[in-house]
Amino acid sequence: MKKNFGAKAVITPLPVLIIATYNEDGTADAMNAAWGGQCGGKHIALNLGAHVSTENIRRNGAFTVSFADKKHLVASDYVGLVSAKDVKDKLERAGLHTEKSEFVNAPVIVDYPLTIECRVVSIREELGEVRVVGEVVNLSADEEILDENGTIDIGKVEALVYDSAAHAYRVVGERVGSAFKDGLQLKQS
Ligand SMILES: Cc1cc2nc3c(=O)[nH]c(=O)nc-3n(C[C@H](O)[C@H](O)[C@H](O)COP(=O)(O)O)c2cc1C
Repeated sequence: MKKNFGAKAVITPLPVLIIATYNEDGTADAMNAAWGGQCGGKHIALNLGAHVSTENIRRNGAFTVSFADKKHLVASDYVGLVSAKDVKDKLERAGLHTEKSEFVNAPVIVDYPLTIECRVVSIREELGEVRVVGEVVNLSADEEILDENGTIDIGKVEALVYDSAAHAYRVVGERVGSAFKDGLQLKQS
């Protein structure tokens, strides 16, 4: 038997993306964003409400995306709970540190091991949300999360995912297969 839950948009898991931007006064802001993802090979899409970060993205035409990790779970949730509008030293309180990106006008949060730097290519309002598309101009990773071949090992990141069914954070775990490969065994020759 299946149980119906009605019209509920539960796509789970979702990524836990930490979006970093510069405020008007030059200080850094960060927010938690689960409604985001990759669109195409070189673009990232975000669905944003009316936040300080949203205005920062409009003004600066740039943002960075870090993957929240288990080590920084509390800080990552905190930046999704309070606004820079109310808490001026939001990042300091979260214990997060930034450096200016070499590539775009946005901060890189150095505490997270994996960060994507983006230039805004599209901002559109639809269904009460602001949809932002950024073109990836750089991806940087701490050496500690690379495997012996120099490839990013997401298991080493202990990246968080958001389980929107249970409002819980979970950790990306065990590798159980190879994409574009394991299904080949059922393909007829
Ligand atoms: C788990 C989680 C996921 C969230 N996902 C989104 C999202 O995808 N889009 C959005 O607009 N806000 C999202 N938020 C809310 C913002 O992170 C939050 O409103 C934040 O305080 C905005 O900060 P700012 O005003 O300093 O920019 C999320 C919050 C949490 C805790």
